[in-house]
Amino acid sequence: MYSEKVMDHFQNPRNVGEIENASGVGTVGNAKCGDIMRMYLDIDENQVIRECKFKTFGCGAAVATSSMATELVKGKTIYEALQITNQAVMEALDGLPPVKVHCSLLAEEAIHAALWDYAEKNNIKIEGLEKPKNDISEGEEEEEY
Ligand code: FES
Repeated sequence: MYSEKVMDHFQNPRNVGEIENASGVGTVGNAKCGDIMRMYLDIDENQVIRECKFKTFGCGAAVATSSMATELVKGKTIYEALQITNQAVMEALDGLPPVKVHCSLLAEEAIHAALWDYAEKNNIKIEGLEKPKNDISEGEEEEEY
């Protein structure tokens, strides 16, 4: 039911952890299942994403898609990262079962939430970026889970 790539990223997730003093941190929740994803971005002065890490209270598909998403955004500019959709992440993983598609949205939204945080911290506007509706970052910056 799951592709080999999904199983690989689930069993050996890349870029798990957190980044101290990250340029942007975003946390999103999925209302359907209650799972949570937090994404950390380290962005340099040329707006290139040097490092990306994630932590999750999520299912296996959420782990696999986030792992792949972090691999895809690394080395990209913030505008290139913005173009990476959950569809692209799923394609890179050779697909997900239909009931698991919503899990891949957590990764996309968490990246957007982290970019939103970066934009706010730097007082800039990222053209085309909207605050994810499942952004639950507010007021819980220091909270651990
Ligand atoms: Fe919640 Fe997959 S079931 S993210």
